[in-house]
Order: sequence, then structure tokens, then C-alpha cells
Amino acid sequence: MTNNQASRRLAVDSDRCAGHGRCFSLEPALFDSDDSGYAVAKLDVVPEELLNGARSALANCPEAAISLTHS
Ligand code: F3S
Repeated sequence: MTNNQASRRLAVDSDRCAGHGRCFSLEPALFDSDDSGYAVAKLDVVPEELLNGARSALANCPEAAISLTHS
């Protein structure tokens, strides 16, 4: 991969997630809720066109449960 932005890895820390739901409301292409209302990441690697959405979800999670890191 030549583009840095194409190798951003997305993860939800299930120990931190408290089910606020802002992530899947803001970016349903990247996040879903499990049967208990906690977030799950739908993709491991965030495509460039969804990076802003991933960053927005990260910034809006009150529990800091979302991480976006270089792979
Ligand atoms: Fe959980 Fe944060 Fe989303 S608490 S449901 S990861 S907004």
C-alpha cells in the first residue's frame, strides 16, 4: 500500500464501550451494535473515503473506546 490513509486500522475496545451509540449513529458504514447495544467495528481497515467518519466517531465517543491506528 502506498497511501498511509489506506492502512488505518479501526477497533472498538469492548471493555470501554458503554453503548452510547454515537459511533453507529454517525458512521453506520463502520460501526454496528451487538445484541446488547455495544459497538462492533464492521471493518478492520478503514477505506480512505470513510476516514473522516471514523475520526468523527472516535472524537465523539465519550468512553474513548474507539481507536484508529496505522497498521
Ligand atoms: Fe460504545 Fe463509544 Fe460507540 S461508548 S457505542 S464505542 S460511541
